[in-house]
Amino acid sequence: MRVTETSDQWWKTAVFYCLHVDTYYDSNGDGVGDLGGLAERIDYLAELGVTCIWLMPIYPTPGRDDGYDVTDFYGIDPRVGHHGQFVEIIRTAKDRGLRVIVDAVINHTSDQHPWFKAARRSVDNPFHDYYVWRSDTPPDTSDQVAFPDVENSIWAKDEKLGQWYLHHFYSYQPDLNVANPKVRDEIDRMLGFWLQLGVDGFRMDAVPYFVDDVETRAESKDHPEVPADPHQHLRDLRAFVNRRKGNAMLLGEVNVPHDQQLKYFGGQAGDELHMMFDFIGMQNVYLSMARRDVRPLAAALVDRPPIHPTCQWATFLRNHDELTLDKLTDEERQEVFAAFGPEPQEQIYGRGLKRRLPTMLGGDPRRIRMAYSLLFTLPGTPTLFYGEEIGMGEDLAAEGRMAVRTPMQWTSGRNGGFSTARPSRLVQRLTPGGYGPEHVNVADQRRDPDSLWSFMHKLIRAYRACPELGWGQFEVLEQPHHQVLAHRSFTDEASVVALHNFGPEPVTVELTLAQGCVDLVDLLGLDDLSTDDQGRVTVALEGYGFLWLRVHPPGTARLP
Ligand code: NOJ
Repeated sequence: MRVTETSDQWWKTAVFYCLHVDTYYDSNGDGVGDLGGLAERIDYLAELGVTCIWLMPIYPTPGRDDGYDVTDFYGIDPRVGHHGQFVEIIRTAKDRGLRVIVDAVINHTSDQHPWFKAARRSVDNPFHDYYVWRSDTPPDTSDQVAFPDVENSIWAKDEKLGQWYLHHFYSYQPDLNVANPKVRDEIDRMLGFWLQLGVDGFRMDAVPYFVDDVETRAESKDHPEVPADPHQHLRDLRAFVNRRKGNAMLLGEVNVPHDQQLKYFGGQAGDELHMMFDFIGMQNVYLSMARRDVRPLAAALVDRPPIHPTCQWATFLRNHDELTLDKLTDEERQEVFAAFGPEPQEQIYGRGLKRRLPTMLGGDPRRIRMAYSLLFTLPGTPTLFYGEEIGMGEDLAAEGRMAVRTPMQWTSGRNGGFSTARPSRLVQRLTPGGYGPEHVNVADQRRDPDSLWSFMHKLIRAYRACPELGWGQFEVLEQPHHQVLAHRSFTDEASVVALHNFGPEPVTVELTLAQGCVDLVDLLGLDDLSTDDQGRVTVALEGYGFLWLRVHPPGTARLP
């Protein structure tokens, strides 16, 4: 790997930062975050060091699923701004060396979308076939619903038409019929529009639902021109996007077991998604932390399918949804619940948690830092959710997943510096209590060299200086302590070893890292080491301690 390749396949060493414009920064005092506000914070993001902003949906929406219910794929919700401001954001971000991706919600629309309103007017309406319908009574699909607290079927009846439409998510989010070539054309056109405005790619919402969906595929019977292989759609999307913009990237939300993941990357050809969130790795981080035993995580990493060299995993600890634990066994999930969210109001959908990481870890700064250090050394591309850099908590009183989408905490002042509006007008109330802006905010932490913000800044810098973490091969290093994950990411030229102690007790670890004596550069501190002439080194880790070591052979071009 040449270091210059990292700019071509930029997503393999990026640091993604997901934010919701509505709750980021309100520039006009109406209580809702907006694009003008985001523009004011681009320098902040550049200073933090992230390299790609992921914007949650900004499209016009009735807002029943926080923007994932779209009424116009080409629009921007007037509450957050307009296209002129969007282009300004793209330009300013580019100037500061940042890329921007946006959520592409192509599995469904809002039921208020003009296509769906037309579709339900009559079965002969040209838009009827934009959605997936059935005339016979659907079977019990209660085990397939995404939101079991609200829905009990993936089919909803349109009383006037006497037909049922498919909706994998809420019933106000009818699924698009991607078997219909016209719908595919609409999706291409929409992606092409945002690419033309300058985005660098898309976070693809709910990918398996529109790719591998049996119900939608049944519809393709009416469309003999559609290829039998449902993944052809994803290949076509990828080819279209990269024809329009060579280095645009698709990052897919694909929460499926290991043995089903590879096909979404396009198998050995690597011609579908460029990236996929590592939901299984994430869930096993929490199981390993709960057990203080790294073996579940190590297994989850080793068992990842080998992917095409241009593809990449997006690693994360938290996102804007519930912390889903759906890929753990029932017993494992209960262990994580018991450790990190034992109260019913902390749990959601029977499968997840409504909390952010710092509260789950009891606010223990050692453990929180260990977790983020781990995130940045996992093989892949780290993805942060806004507020993680300062250790924001959640508002358990907020509805469902909104618990973790509270306004960004900029200062200790009124409304946490998010907005000048009356508190009653805020889009959402701020996190209350000990994790609220009085105690947790950017302004204080940015100036404090010992803060979580400063630590995160350091992690990002270290990650960016070690492209082998994103590009390299990966191995778990043998050593006898189950509370310690020792792993190495390496290319032909470079090698980084990371150690993380998941337990509260100090531990001493002996490793063999080279054939002979080499320098080991402490990438987060000043305590450089070297191996003995047998290539061995002994390192001491504090409780929840961690260490990143660059194996630094003589003559390497890397700066120590
Ligand atoms: C996944 C998104 O992350 C989630 O927030 C949303 O509710 C569903 N897809 C439906 O779009």
